[in-house]
Formats: sequence, structure tokens, C-alpha cells
Amino acid sequence: MGKSGKDSLLGNKIAAGVLTAGLILWAANRVAHIFIPEEAPEKPAIQLTGLTQAAPVAAPSSGPESIIPLLASADAAKGQAFVQQQCAACHTFTQGGANGVGPNLYGVLGGPMFAHAGFTYSDAVKAKAKGNWDYDSMDSWLTSPSSFASGTGMSYAGIHNPQTRADVIAYLRSLAASPLPIPTAPPASAAAPAQAAAQAAAPGIDTLFVSADIAKGQAVFQQQCSVCHNITKGGHNGVGPDLYGIVGAKAFSAPGFTYSSAVQAKAGQPWTPDSLSDWLKAPNSYASGTAMSFAGIKNDQIRADVIAYLNHNADSPAKLP
Ligand code: HEC
Ligand code: HEC
Repeated sequence: MGKSGKDSLLGNKIAAGVLTAGLILWAANRVAHIFIPEEAPEKPAIQLTGLTQAAPVAAPSSGPESIIPLLASADAAKGQAFVQQQCAACHTFTQGGANGVGPNLYGVLGGPMFAHAGFTYSDAVKAKAKGNWDYDSMDSWLTSPSSFASGTGMSYAGIHNPQTRADVIAYLRSLAASPLPIPTAPPASAAAPAQAAAQAAAPGIDTLFVSADIAKGQAVFQQQCSVCHNITKGGHNGVGPDLYGIVGAKAFSAPGFTYSSAVQAKAGQPWTPDSLSDWLKAPNSYASGTAMSFAGIKNDQIRADVIAYLNHNADSPAKLP
């Protein structure tokens, strides 16, 4: 015994101490897992997505906003993944699917509100049923069901991230034989295409610059424009003129490039994001007979992305609206 016994006793005490600490840690960890489940159904991954998606999505400066602009860049596949995780416990999504805790949701967008055959709705939502679901009513329902219809039977906190909501709505939209059309900016009149397009495009595209993605714009440019255009400082003209510094530059005035007569009437005015938007939406409506054989970019968000990319390629990029 003696020295060595004392030592082994000390050793045992240390071992026990380490073991106990380990046990306590392990237990604490278990408890944390029990009380803070990683996939809390009530509060979806909102905080997380909110963090990772940062500023552009929130776009707080534009005030109470319609979901419609976000639908242009919404990802129905992401919406589907989210719905599988957060909604499928209560809803089915296939045509003729059974009602569960909540009604089957096939064809819900564009269909009558709270009226799925064979499902018994709460009085709370019956009082709110007015006409058909459209994009904005669906958006406010999914933001917070209980604010939309206090006392609703849908025990779900809501989707707080606007882009996630847009993704989910894009997915719901796809669940139909003929999906509800997404409304666009006021239609351009055929009579005065350029003028009307200028007016129609301006407010729509301006809100989209806030969330424009230069990298996406670059990818589109590589794919669709780079066959005809360079975009490097001092780059040579190709089928079309070099586009370095084009935002703010005089239209159709690149030195050394021979433009078609179709664009002469539009030459000399500085390109603004809005006039570029009109041009890129439909070159041949903007300047009938132009040599730029390109159908145009119909999607507003993609156009905004491309313009943001053009703007980025300049000595001093302009501030987009
Ligand atoms: C805990 C169960 C539950 C979850 C989770 C849930 N819902 Fe619901 N949902 C319901 C119930 C119940 C109703 C009917 C509401 C009522 O009667 O008050 C409903 C109604 C709806 C409606 C209206 C249907 C109609 O016929 O007009 C939509 C749309 C909807 N839910 C979408 C969703 C989406 C999208 C999610 C996931 C992001 C979701 N719900 C998550 C239970 C749920
Ligand atoms: C098939 C070749 C071709 C493609 C593809 C093409 N362009 Fe062009 N682009 C031209 C030509 C040619 C002109 C000159 C128009 C004229 O003379 O009528 C032009 C003119 C322009 C101008 C005006 C330049 C100036 O000097 O004011 C811009 C801006 C522009 N294109 C952007 C684009 C973008 C962005 C894309 C892709 C989304 C694209 N173009 C795709 C051939 C093309």
C-alpha cells in the first residue's frame, strides 16, 4: 500500500471525475436534444434561412410588398423539399390525394378558398373564405395562418422568409393541370411598343435590381450574348459591339462598329438601366429591323441580373435604381 496505493486511489478519483463529467455532458446533450429538436415543426428553418440569405431577399426598403416579383426567381424544387419537410405531415399534394389533418392541396392556387371536397374546415377560416386563392392571399396565409384567420385549425407558425414563401407558392402553383398565370406588369400596348414598354418595364424592373444577381447575369451573358459580344475594356467588336461600360454610355455609338440603320434613330441617348431593360426584353420591338438577332429576355429577374452584370463591367458602375 502506502505511496502506490494512494496514487492508485488518486488515479481512480481522477478517472471517476472524468467519467462523471463525461456523463453529465452526455446527459446535458441528450436533454438539449429532447428539448431543442433539430427539426422543430412549429418554427421552420426560418432563422437559418434568414441568416444565410441575408439582405437582398428581405428587401425591406420596398415596404409592404407583393410576392409576385419574387416568383420570377422562385425555385419550385426547393419549395417542394420544404413542403415535404414542413407540410406533408398534414397535407397530401397529389391529384385526388386524401385529406389528412389538413385538406389535399392539389390545385389549391386559383381554386376556391377553404372549399376542398370532403374536408371539414374550422369556422375561423370559413369566415375568411372569399373567392379564389391568388398569389397575394396565399402569401399572407402562409406568412402567418393564425393572423390570417385567428383560430384556424392549421397549427403552423408560418413561413417568415419571403423567398422561401415564393418557393413554396411556386411549388403549389405547379400542382395543377393548368397552373394559375403569374401576373406581370401592365401589358405594353401594341400601338406604341417602345413607349409603352418603357412605362411598363420601369417600375417592375426597378424593384428587381434590389435582388439582382451579378453572377447569374454573367452566366446568362456567357451563354446567350458572348457569341456576339465581348465585354472587356478595349475589347474588340464582334458581330455586336464590345459592351464594356455600356450602362450610361451613348447608345449605339461604339467607335469602330457599324450599326444597322434600324438603331440610328435611337442612337446618342445614354443607356439607362430602364432603357436597357426595354431593349433587352425585345430588341426587335425596341428598334424594328435591328441587326441584333436575339429574341430577348422575357423574364424580368433574369433581365435585371444581366443588366446588373453589364453595369458591373465598367470603370465606375452606376448605382442601379
Ligand atoms: C399541423 C398540421 C398542418 C401543417 C403542418 C400545415 N397545415 Fe396547412 N392546413 C391544415 C389545416 C387543418 C387546414 C384547414 C384550416 C382550417 O380549417 O382552419 C390547412 C389549410 C391549408 C391551406 C388552405 C387549403 C384550402 O382548402 O383552401 C393551405 C393552402 C395550406 N394549408 C398550406 C400549407 C402549407 C404550404 C404548409 C407547410 C408550409 C402547411 N399547410 C402546413 C393543417 C396543417
Ligand atoms: C446574334 C448576335 C447577338 C446576340 C446573341 C446578342 N447581340 Fe447584342 N447586339 C448585336 C448587334 C449586331 C448589335 C448592334 C445592333 C444594330 O446595329 O442594330 C447589338 C447591340 C447590343 C447593345 C447596344 C450596344 C450599343 O452600342 O449601344 C446591347 C446593350 C446589347 N447588344 C446587349 C446584348 C445582350 C445583353 C445580349 C444577350 C442577352 C445580346 N446583346 C445578344 C448582336 C447580338
